[in-house]
This record gives sequence, structure tokens and C-alpha cells, in this order.
Amino acid sequence: MEGGEGKIKNKTLKNLKREEKKKMRKTFLTIGLILLSIAFVYGNADAVSGQCSNCHTMHNSQNGTNMTYNNADAPNDFLLRGDCLGCHGQNTSSNIVSLGNVPQVLHKDTTDLAGGNFAYITGDKTRATADASTAGHNVTDLGVADSNLTSGPPGDENTTGITTNLTCAGTMGCHGNRGTAGSMAAIKGAHHANDAVLKFPTVNLAGQGTTVGTSYRFLLGVKGGEDTDWQATSSATDHNEYFGATGTGQESTKTTDPSGTMSGLCAECHGGFHGSADIGGTGSPWQRHPTDISLPGTGTEYAAYTTYSTEAPVARTAITDVSGIVTPTGSTDDIVMCLSCHRAHASPNQDMLRWSYAGMSAGTTGASAGTGCFTCHTTKDGN
Ligand code: HEC
Ligand code: HEC
Ligand code: HEC
Ligand code: HEC
Ligand code: HEC
Repeated sequence: MEGGEGKIKNKTLKNLKREEKKKMRKTFLTIGLILLSIAFVYGNADAVSGQCSNCHTMHNSQNGTNMTYNNADAPNDFLLRGDCLGCHGQNTSSNIVSLGNVPQVLHKDTTDLAGGNFAYITGDKTRATADASTAGHNVTDLGVADSNLTSGPPGDENTTGITTNLTCAGTMGCHGNRGTAGSMAAIKGAHHANDAVLKFPTVNLAGQGTTVGTSYRFLLGVKGGEDTDWQATSSATDHNEYFGATGTGQESTKTTDPSGTMSGLCAECHGGFHGSADIGGTGSPWQRHPTDISLPGTGTEYAAYTTYSTEAPVARTAITDVSGIVTPTGSTDDIVMCLSCHRAHASPNQDMLRWSYAGMSAGTTGASAGTGCFTCHTTKDGN
């Protein structure tokens, strides 16, 4: 019996040990899972992912062959395999290319991403009313100069010194730190930054704008909410959310937009079209089309703009999640901005407009009724 008891004791001890081991394994598993999920959350929150070698090359040489995407001998900044257009302007038939999910700004896909498409400047996509000069921002990287606007941005009140030398980023461009010279240097660190504060449904405006990586689309200081596929798919409830101000906002300096608005960024170079002193004060009658003002509410033509339009989008003062609802009040939200009428990069239409201005005829009941300008000026068409 004793032996039996001993066996039982031993068995119990073994069982206990086994249970302890099981428990320990469980604990390790739980800790492991927690660590993994942390890594997953943080891994996902970084803008870029994937093997270093997808994007970087240590010597621009492997088996004696160049590693740059375009096979160039010259190595790139940050040991990259391409420059901005090398990654973002591959001119394929896809608006997002697989290599680390790169949004394209020069491509032949029928659907343009939210910023527009430089292919209207190069002629790789068919233009409507524009030509190579009027379709958009002729950044030098494209190799197609603007033949009309050769003395700087129209409405340049900050003396930017940008004439025909417009670049993607830096002092001569829009993205990155506009106080730093050179596209690459100006964007340093952004692609690997944690950008969770910009993502729906938990956009945190207060945590944005202090670094390039935490700014809306790497536009230093600009706030907003980022659609994860850059509007490759879009609808009233599937789009970017732009940040705006009321009362025409604060005027920008050459490199800073104190309000953090999309229109304020444009005003760093086109300030003459933005501030109250330039547009005829703070109320109607205006002298230039107002931006960073709330759509007037009840009793006005604007009150009928109630469903978000990706053709003529509005900005907001408060953003946490994407919203399809527009509620003009005249004082707080739903704001007219530069991108209500313009694309940021290029469009098929003259003046980089989101629709053909030529198609906007007062009193029309034709195809353009309810579109373009009529999205807000709802009574100026024939309906
Ligand atoms: C999908 C493309 C991509 C992948 C993959 C990638 N990088 Fe980068 N990396 C970039 C780009 C673009 C830049 C330059 C622009 C910037 O800093 O935003 C950069 C910049 C850097 C920089 C300099 C700026 C900074 O953040 O300090 C370092 C260091 C770096 N990468 C290291 C790595 C390492 C290590 C890996 C692999 C674990 C890696 N990268 C994977 C695209 C990538
Ligand atoms: C080696 C390839 C590579 C190079 C070079 C590169 N990018 Fe990117 N970029 C990426 C990838 C990949 C993403 C997508 C990250 C993601 O999924 O959010 C990206 C995203 C972006 C975005 C969108 C960020 C967002 O919030 O969604 C901007 C803007 C951008 N890049 C600008 C630039 C500019 C300007 C340059 C040149 C100074 C540049 N990139 C150079 C690979 C590159
Ligand atoms: C870094 C300075 C800079 C910023 C920021 C900037 N622009 Fe421009 N913009 C220019 C320059 C330079 C030109 C003239 C050269 C050209 O059109 O290529 C121009 C031209 C334009 C044109 C006329 C296009 C044409 O060729 O007829 C429009 C419209 C425009 N900008 C709108 C905007 C909007 C909207 C924003 C904000 C999203 C903005 N710009 C931000 C520098 C800037
Ligand atoms: C209500 C729509 C609308 C809004 C909002 C708007 N624009 Fe325009 N923009 C136009 C139209 C239409 C033109 C064509 C020229 C004209 O009518 O004066 C134009 C032309 C331009 C031009 C080209 C001027 C030239 O000499 O070729 C620039 C630059 C420009 N806009 C910048 C801006 C900026 C910056 C903002 C925001 C501060 C802005 N626009 C807001 C509709 C708009
Ligand atoms: C996103 C909405 C929106 C779009 C799109 C828009 N507007 Fe406006 N527009 C407004 C608002 C808001 C006002 C200011 C109304 C007020 O203060 O009473 C305004 C003012 C005006 C004014 C001056 C009115 C005044 O009282 O001084 C004119 C003219 C005008 N818009 C024409 C246009 C034209 C033409 C287009 C198309 C190229 C256009 N708008 C597109 C929202 C818009």
C-alpha cells in the first residue's frame, strides 16, 4: 500500500508539476501573445513595413549590379533604391504598387488617388480642359515645366523664391519640413514614424503636427484623418478628413501654418488668396473666394449640402472618425477650403480644378446641375 501511496503521491506530484508546467506555458504563451500584439500594433502603426532590402541598398551593388530601381549608377540619399518619384511615380497601371504598398502620384489607373495624378501633366493620362502647364503643380522631378507661371506661385505674399524649381518636399516643395532644403532631408524619419494619431476611428488631433511623421500626409504641421487606401476606394463615408478653421483662420508664414489647416499650407505659398486682409474681410461681400470659413446654415443655399461629397469636400474643426454627414451652421464645422475646388497634385482640368469650370453654367438643368460649384451653391443651378 505504501508503495501504492508513494506511487499516488508521485503521480500527484507529477500531475502538479505537469499542471505547473502547463500554467507556466500558458503564462509564457500569454506574455508572448501580448508582446506579439504590441509588436503588431506598433508594426502596423509605422507608415512603412517589409524587408529593408525592398527599399534600401547598402552599397548600390549586388553581384556587381546596381540596386537602384532604375538601374542608375548614382546612389540615393538614405541608401534608398529610388527617389520620391522612383517609388511614388512608377507610371504603371496601378494606383498603389505592391512594394510596401506605395501610393502612386503618377500612374495610368482609371482611379486617381485623393491628391490627383501628375500623369495629366506628363500627358500619360488624357486631359480634359487643361494642358501640360495648367493641369497642376509642375514639380521639376517630372521634367515638364509650366510655361505660364514662371515667376513663382500666384498670390505669393511670403516671397518663397520658388519659380521653376518646385520640388516634392522641403523649402522648394510642399511635403516634409518646409524649413529644410532638399526633398529627402526634409522628410527624414517620416516613413518609419508611428502615425497612429492620424488613423480612423481614433484620430487624435492634439497629438498631430509636431513632426513630419505625425502630420497629415507628411505635410509638416497639417492635421487631419487619413483614409488608409488614399481614396483608391471612396464614398460619402470612405474618405480623408481635412482639418479646417473658422473665421478665415490665422495667416501662414513662409514655412508655418499656425492653424494646422490644409488651406493654411497652400497659403504658405499662395497667401494672397487666403487671409481676411486679402479676400475682402471676414464676411460677405467677399472679394476673393473665401476659405477656412464655415458654410452658412439655415435659410441659405449652403444648408442643402448635407451629405459629404468627395467631388467638393469640406474640412472640419473636430475629427475622430470619418463622417458622411455635413451640417452647415455658419459657425463651427463643415468648412470651405482650397481642396474643395482644387486637387493638390494635378487634375484633367484647367487650374488644377476638381471639375471643369467651363461646365458650370448658372441656371443649368443639364448634366452639371448639382455638381462642382453647385454642391455648395445649391440654388445657382436650375434646380
Ligand atoms: C517600404 C520601403 C522601406 C522599407 C521596407 C524600409 N525603409 Fe527605411 N526608409 C524608407 C524611406 C522612404 C526612407 C527615407 C524617408 C524618410 O525617412 O521618411 C527611409 C529612411 C530610413 C532611415 C533614415 C531615417 C530614419 O528614420 O532614421 C533609416 C535608418 C532606415 N530607413 C532604416 C531601415 C531599416 C533598418 C529597414 C528594415 C528593417 C528599413 N529602413 C526598411 C523606406 C523603407
Ligand atoms: C523606397 C520607396 C520610397 C521612397 C524613396 C519614398 N517613399 Fe513615400 N512612401 C513609401 C511607402 C511604402 C509609403 C506607404 C506607407 C504606408 O503604407 O502608409 C509611402 C508614403 C508616403 C506618403 C503618404 C504618407 C501617408 O500618410 O499615407 C507621402 C506623402 C510620401 N510617401 C512622400 C514621399 C516623398 C515626398 C518622398 C521623397 C522625399 C518619398 N515619399 C520617398 C515609399 C517611398
Ligand atoms: C511650396 C509652395 C507651394 C505650395 C505649398 C502650394 N503651391 Fe500651388 N503653386 C506653387 C507654384 C510655384 C505654382 C506655379 C507653378 C506651377 O503651376 O507649376 C503653383 C501653382 C498653383 C496653381 C495653378 C496651377 C496652374 O498651373 O495653372 C494652383 C491652382 C495651385 N497652385 C493651388 C495650390 C493649392 C490648392 C495648394 C495647397 C493644397 C498649393 N497650391 C500649395 C507653389 C505652391
Ligand atoms: C470655390 C472654388 C475655389 C476655391 C475654394 C479655391 N480656388 Fe483657386 N481657383 C479656382 C478657380 C475657378 C480658379 C481659376 C481662376 C479664377 O477664377 O480666378 C482658381 C485658380 C487658382 C490659382 C491659379 C491662379 C493663376 O494665376 O493661374 C491658384 C494658384 C489658386 N487657385 C490657389 C488657390 C488656393 C491657395 C486656395 C485656398 C486658399 C484656392 N485656390 C481656393 C477655384 C477655387
Ligand atoms: C465647399 C463649398 C463651396 C464650393 C465648392 C464653392 N463655394 Fe463659393 N462659396 C462658399 C461659401 C461658404 C461662400 C461664402 C458665403 C457667405 O459668406 O455667405 C462662398 C462664396 C462665393 C461667392 C461670393 C459670395 C459673396 O457673398 O460674396 C461666389 C461668387 C462664389 N462663392 C462662387 C463659387 C463658384 C463659381 C464656385 C465653383 C468654382 C464655388 N463658389 C464653389 C462655398 C463654396
